[in-house]
Amino acid sequence: MKIISDPQEIQALCRGLRFSGVTTALVPTMGFLHDGHKSLLLAAKNRAEKVILSIFVNPTQFGPGEDLEAYPRDFNRDVKIAEEVGVDIVFAPKPEAMYGPDHATWVEAPELAKELCGASRPTHFRGVCTVVLKLFNLCMPTFALFGEKDWQQLAIIKAMTRDLNLPVQVEGCPIVREPDGLALSSRNSYLTQSERQQAPHIFKGLKLVQKLARNGEHDPRQLKKAVEEYWQEHLPLGEIDYLEFVNPVKIERVDAVQGETLVAVAMRLGKARLIDNLLIRS
Ligand code: PAF
Repeated sequence: MKIISDPQEIQALCRGLRFSGVTTALVPTMGFLHDGHKSLLLAAKNRAEKVILSIFVNPTQFGPGEDLEAYPRDFNRDVKIAEEVGVDIVFAPKPEAMYGPDHATWVEAPELAKELCGASRPTHFRGVCTVVLKLFNLCMPTFALFGEKDWQQLAIIKAMTRDLNLPVQVEGCPIVREPDGLALSSRNSYLTQSERQQAPHIFKGLKLVQKLARNGEHDPRQLKKAVEEYWQEHLPLGEIDYLEFVNPVKIERVDAVQGETLVAVAMRLGKARLIDNLLIRS
């Protein structure tokens, strides 16, 4: 397994692979790998001849006062996991190698970033789009895989890839959960014992929405009320950042939860801000 930190070096290597017809799959991450990342890496191995894992805590997608400094990091452990899974290339650049002092160009998809995380983190997706485009240009992958836990991120990256004619096939992979339903996230490491005990109710709340919608309740306000009450009782340590019902492609609020609707939540639980979602068909 090669470990590369220099953007020029990875680009030269990946250009060689691309032009010699070797298929590659990129899994972009911010490190502190868990089983969700592992499932992306295994899917990548099934797609392509070579797997590239990028590890980069991208500063431009964190807003002021967010957890950039505190974001969990363990590079040696990540490398071990990458080796176990059979990754071919790890790309782990330093922030100053990715963003020069004169960096002046940003990529955005504002229409898709109005709701959900884009509403509470106004510069987040600009940072994500910009770094993902840079990673695509450096790694030139045939495929790129992202988790569906960050559904809005995946929708935005798919739109960017389509709109800018990027020669990459972007694919989403299902959310990986703990046995009690909590979606895996590097930020779960922030949770205290009592917060961790309550955290599975985030997903249980989403399942409640699904059940009510399937039983004929299609009004987002009624569904919201029901799940808020459920969380008040079972998740008193949580503070809802948002709970929204959106079209899964356009990421626009819906008036009725009918057909395919994404129910998405961001919840503050102590130091952690956790997101989760469920695609409902009713
Ligand atoms: O999902 C993430 O971990 C990050 O947003 C990504 C896609 C690696 C970009 O920094």
